[in-house]
Amino acid sequence: MGRTVRRPTGPWTPAVHELLGYLHENGLRGIPEVQGIDDEGREILEYVEGRGVPVDREVVLDTVLVEAVTWLRDFHDLVEGFRPDGVRTWRAAGEVELSADEIICHHDPGAYNWIIQSGHFVAMIDWDMAGPGRPIDDLAFLAWTAIPLYREIPIEDVVRRLDLLVDAYGEWGPMTVLEAVVARMTTASDRIEAGQARGEEGFLNLAKVGEPQRTRDRVEAFRARIAEIDAAL
Ligand SMILES: Nc1ncnc2c1ncn2[C@@H]1O[C@H](COP(=O)(O)OP(=O)(O)O)[C@@H](O)[C@H]1O
Ligand SMILES: [Mg+2]
Repeated sequence: MGRTVRRPTGPWTPAVHELLGYLHENGLRGIPEVQGIDDEGREILEYVEGRGVPVDREVVLDTVLVEAVTWLRDFHDLVEGFRPDGVRTWRAAGEVELSADEIICHHDPGAYNWIIQSGHFVAMIDWDMAGPGRPIDDLAFLAWTAIPLYREIPIEDVVRRLDLLVDAYGEWGPMTVLEAVVARMTTASDRIEAGQARGEEGFLNLAKVGEPQRTRDRVEAFRARIAEIDAAL
């Protein structure tokens, strides 16, 4: 609507707005500004000019991949300082306190949640899944959709882009990231299954595209390629 986006809210929305407010105040670029709640109870976000990424049909440029990973690192470095006192309600984690070895992750930083403007990464949207976690989980999820690893691309492209991702983030080696991908995407499948069992609409919609079995099959196919990727690194 105009220069805004209106999205449905849930019990997790106050915590997400607190998070986005903190990130905005502390100067993180590449996030939509929260402008409040409208009289229909929807959240009002700044509309970020640009386009999304149709991940099944597009492999983003190496430069865009590096920009997004650099953004993720900046986000993680900044969010380390976001340690709210007491319990917050997050969508996946529920009502929990942030423990000392966790940060608040985005948890869905797939390339389909990026906005690209004039050939550059300009924003990460869709913060509903944010909540406590480990930073490598975000990096693994990003790698899954944006290298991409969930479908087969030429091995030389996988290796080059994995190296770029590892260098841009600057924390873990390539094999550590690949192992984290298997763990993270197994967790993703389990969460979808649990959400469907609870009867949540968003997760039930995923059943129409064959989730969580689709991801489980893709993880198995990816696991079978890891040795080949390792040898080519
Ligand atoms: N702040 C925003 N600025 C521009 N476009 C947005 C914004 N938020 C959402 N969109 C558009 O709406 C689509 C769906 O929104 P998203 O927040 O990703 O929700 P979900 O994936 O849960 O449906 C996005 O892929 C994007 O095209
Ligand atoms: Mg989305």
